Amino acid sequence: MQTLLDMSLSSFARADLLQGPTPIQRAERLEQLLGLKAQGIGLFLKRDDHMLIGGGGNKLRKLEFHLGAALAAGVDTVITIGGLQSNHARLTAAVCARLGIVCELILTRSVPKAEVDYELNGNVLLDQLFGADIRVLAGGSDSLTEAEKRAAHLREAGRTVLVIPTGGSTPLGSLGYARCAAEIAQQETQLGLTFNQVVVPNGSAGTHAGLAAGFQLLGRGTSMVKSYSVLSDRDTSADRTVRLTQDALTLLGSSAVVEASEIVIDGSQLGEGYGLPTPAMLDAVRLMARAEGLLIDPVYSGKAFAGLLGDIRQGRFQRGDNLLFVMTGGTPGLYAYRETFQV
Ligand SMILES: Cc1ncc(COP(=O)(O)O)c(C=O)c1O
Repeated sequence: MQTLLDMSLSSFARADLLQGPTPIQRAERLEQLLGLKAQGIGLFLKRDDHMLIGGGGNKLRKLEFHLGAALAAGVDTVITIGGLQSNHARLTAAVCARLGIVCELILTRSVPKAEVDYELNGNVLLDQLFGADIRVLAGGSDSLTEAEKRAAHLREAGRTVLVIPTGGSTPLGSLGYARCAAEIAQQETQLGLTFNQVVVPNGSAGTHAGLAAGFQLLGRGTSMVKSYSVLSDRDTSADRTVRLTQDALTLLGSSAVVEASEIVIDGSQLGEGYGLPTPAMLDAVRLMARAEGLLIDPVYSGKAFAGLLGDIRQGRFQRGDNLLFVMTGGTPGLYAYRETFQV
């Protein structure tokens, strides 16, 4: 049955980069090890790391909408920005390669890390393989202004250019995760269960905001989604997420007003800052690998999963609850953090 959300989404151009839903798997070994099975609590994994282009990850959902609009506008060049180890930059480079569009990346040294693997391995290696043009700026640089300047220069030379801001987290990009909410709701019907809580990392907020907007339009409320902030402190993340959820809902033609108290964000996992490892993240990445044979990344999913483990251990869930942890990809980051994991 077509929902209001499906109908609203269908009016936007979308490049089909996913080619179907990503799987949901039950994490049975984790359920055993964490004592969830005995308590009658289900733990499921939404495999958004399992996609068909560029190594996969959450950014592909946002890029479906950005590139849909870009193709309709005849764009020949995409410029995007991010940290040196940006997954969004890597996936933009991969998608542009697939679509025959020139890709320029303006990357910033936003994390105080200078190991050779951080500089050259992981996403940086893949950006190069996908044929992107890469420029690296010092930490603290205004890369968006640089991208706009570069775009103006290319436009003067006759090129048609799209600039995609950090993480693809505009209202349009967030629609990718509103669409994911619809996908999860369909999978609930197929699985014969209902999720109480969908858990994600929060960086530039588009993943949280899109899911929250989608669940709001499905009549489930924005508080279905809980995120752990990994880029900024809790309040900064919350402001950004409330605004983006509101803008995504407006873009979808809804007049719903987002209540800040219904946007659920936990700031406990940031540690010393964006991209800086925490002991809880290291434990979480190792637990996922050793219990389920699955990879999560050190910057985003690793910190979010650490937060979820903390909530589970503090007994925050009850019998009958079903939790859905979204695996957002970013595993090339593991190679950039080799020294962190090998000490
Ligand atoms: C692997 C991964 N997970 C999660 C996120 C966070 O998503 P968002 O920026 O939409 O909050 C990002 C990007 O920032 C990411 O690369």
